[in-house]
Amino acid sequence: MKDMGKLIDWKKKGNELRIRFEHREMIITALTDEIINVFVPIWSDEHRSKAVEESDLKRVAKSGPTSVDVKAVEEIKEGNGLRPEAGVELRTGKLKVKISNEGCVDFYTLEGKLLSGEYRGERKPIITLGIWEMELLKAEGHTVADTVLGKPVNDVRAVDPDEHFYGLGDKMGLLDKRSYEYENWNTDDPSAHNEQYRSLYKSVPFLICKKKECAYGLFYDNTFHSYFDLGKENPEYMAYSAEDGNLDLYFIGGESIKKVVGNYTLLTGRAPLPQLWTLGYHQCRWGYSSAKDIREVAEKFRELGIPCESVQYDIDYMDGYRVFTWNEKDYGKPGELFKELGAKGYKPVVIIDPGTKREKGYFMYEEGTEGGFFFRNSDDTEDYVNAVWPGEANYPDFGRKEVRDWWGKHINELCDMGVAAIWNDMNEPASFNGPLPLDVVGYDEERKTTHRELHNVYGHFMAKATYDAMKEYTGKRPLVITRAAYAGTQKYAAVWTGDNQSLWFHLAMMIPQLCTLGMCGYPVCGVDIGGFGADTTPELLARWIEASCFSTFFRNHSANGCIRQEPWKFGKEVTDIYRKYVKLHYRFLPYIYDLMHEEEENGLPVMRPLVMHYEDDEVTYNLNDEFLVGEKLLVAPVVTPGERVRKVYLPEGTWYSLWTGAKHRGRRFFLEEAPLGHMPVYVKAGSVIPMYEEMSYVGEKPIDRISLLTTPEGGSLVHYQDGGEDFSYREGNYNLYRFDVDGTGKTEITMLNEAQDVKPYDYFRVIRLH
Ligand code: GLC
Repeated sequence: MKDMGKLIDWKKKGNELRIRFEHREMIITALTDEIINVFVPIWSDEHRSKAVEESDLKRVAKSGPTSVDVKAVEEIKEGNGLRPEAGVELRTGKLKVKISNEGCVDFYTLEGKLLSGEYRGERKPIITLGIWEMELLKAEGHTVADTVLGKPVNDVRAVDPDEHFYGLGDKMGLLDKRSYEYENWNTDDPSAHNEQYRSLYKSVPFLICKKKECAYGLFYDNTFHSYFDLGKENPEYMAYSAEDGNLDLYFIGGESIKKVVGNYTLLTGRAPLPQLWTLGYHQCRWGYSSAKDIREVAEKFRELGIPCESVQYDIDYMDGYRVFTWNEKDYGKPGELFKELGAKGYKPVVIIDPGTKREKGYFMYEEGTEGGFFFRNSDDTEDYVNAVWPGEANYPDFGRKEVRDWWGKHINELCDMGVAAIWNDMNEPASFNGPLPLDVVGYDEERKTTHRELHNVYGHFMAKATYDAMKEYTGKRPLVITRAAYAGTQKYAAVWTGDNQSLWFHLAMMIPQLCTLGMCGYPVCGVDIGGFGADTTPELLARWIEASCFSTFFRNHSANGCIRQEPWKFGKEVTDIYRKYVKLHYRFLPYIYDLMHEEEENGLPVMRPLVMHYEDDEVTYNLNDEFLVGEKLLVAPVVTPGERVRKVYLPEGTWYSLWTGAKHRGRRFFLEEAPLGHMPVYVKAGSVIPMYEEMSYVGEKPIDRISLLTTPEGGSLVHYQDGGEDFSYREGNYNLYRFDVDGTGKTEITMLNEAQDVKPYDYFRVIRLH
């Protein structure tokens, strides 16, 4: 890092190396052999991380480094292109970090291969400002260089000409983010998101960098407004900067993308295994305006034989958009509709926004005001006021435990009513009267601070409040769905990508966006199927349900004012296609569930970009229109209107069409017929994939049988089965099977674990592709 001054001395204590420079200190900590933290306390002496909690650190400590050695070095001789410099070197069992006498930090493999070196030249920002913005800057007494280069936290790293970048959460754009720039500032922008957008609802400052034959990760843990330039201003480097906070960089080794993702999620936490039903199909619309509306939609799904778990309750169910209230006039007595539809297998999922209506006599307003639970004005004299759906509103200060507990108490009341899952929205936080001023006062637990620091973790804290309350109260695995998030929020919530639109390019963007979220630790994610804003078309909806068939958050949602988006609105052909893919999703549910269970162990998502498993294959580096489900299925959806033949790429190996069993040799492109209603899906040779029978919803009947889909070679499968709802699996209450299927279909079953009270399957059958 620049401006450190000369190195004065250093001291090693355990896994930690403290280096004193003329102007600042730098602390390097080896958390494991492959996770190294570089901390420059510019703003505070402690990390104050929201992504890496005490409990995360305890877990990481269990895989602490095998060795940590420190020594002074005269120069680096590995021929990495950097000029020889003296400094200190720290080695773990896997990595080497060299800190030069000027404070530059370079990361190597133990064999001396440079993974990431600090850029020694000067940064030269491109001036992209328009004439009026320039005038404004001048009037404020700034230069352009000031605004880009004048940030207190900076890290500029040299990149190889053929280096590729992945990650950064929900950002729009392609899988490979090289040559683009981004900002981390949670943003609710209702216009049509496109690949030039720098920020969306979530801030996940985690970047995966892939060079020839290796990969590594950079996680800049800082909640202030931050920026990434990924070789846009200069292909020689990538630049990170932040408005405030510390340089708190976790260098994440692992060599392969899979291992880097595994290490990142070891550090920031893994999404807990969800309840089985939550992975099923959900229907929603902002504008289901009465119990009658919800009931009719729910009944129609059953009547048409399209499986469905929930018809979700958007803000219409509230009384005047007051959170934790119920609109009795249009929705009847609280809880009654839940019971009625519960009898038909529907689970109630309700939206809860943070904005609390300012209104005398309204219990949330009274309690929040009296308890001092809301954000305060910059001079800390009054509660801060902005506006959201209910009009003038206050914002709960979720950074404090007492506020989270207060919120949690009301979440528990919803659980008492029968609510099964909570959908958190507008928690960037959104505001209709201009953005929240940066100096609005809030707390990080006991410490008074401002919105500048808290903005990007507002949704994170809200999700944590909701998750903790539900977990403690119900003992079940909570489903919390959140729009805003930070790194680490995956421990508490699933995510969706907010307000997309019924546009073909939004359907196409879904693939890189969800793959990216998965690589950033969010395995349970989805987009609004059919598009939220604008009007969908029959063909677009049909292609959208095909492409979403393997989504872990599988929901059709649309906005008030747009045309209704239930499949039957588009005629028989679309309804039939819709039914086919929703049913297919349910058949593959045990595979998705197995992958979610494995994710708790390895951190890998369900939906994966091909580059994750085929790192040596350049075709996959920016392949945006195909994805893998686990390792065994490859999905090539049609995302272009009018297209009836698709160009498909299959990577190395042999693959079989799921539909026809046709055998394909990999590492080549070919054309596949893809009429409307037909999405190309391929099964990797040697796979065994578990499948359920058809069902209308999870819980309709006991799941007493399993099918094993195999390719002609046979193969083996470790399959997980539990009660689907609570945490008893963590105490061993699950069945674990190993199925070895040979080329003739003959199968051997080994029980690897037996549950206390989960009845094993009564039947199994083998479905062979040929
Ligand atoms: C926001 C959400 C959307 C929701 C709407 C009304 O726009 O992103 O999903 O339907 O608010 O609550």
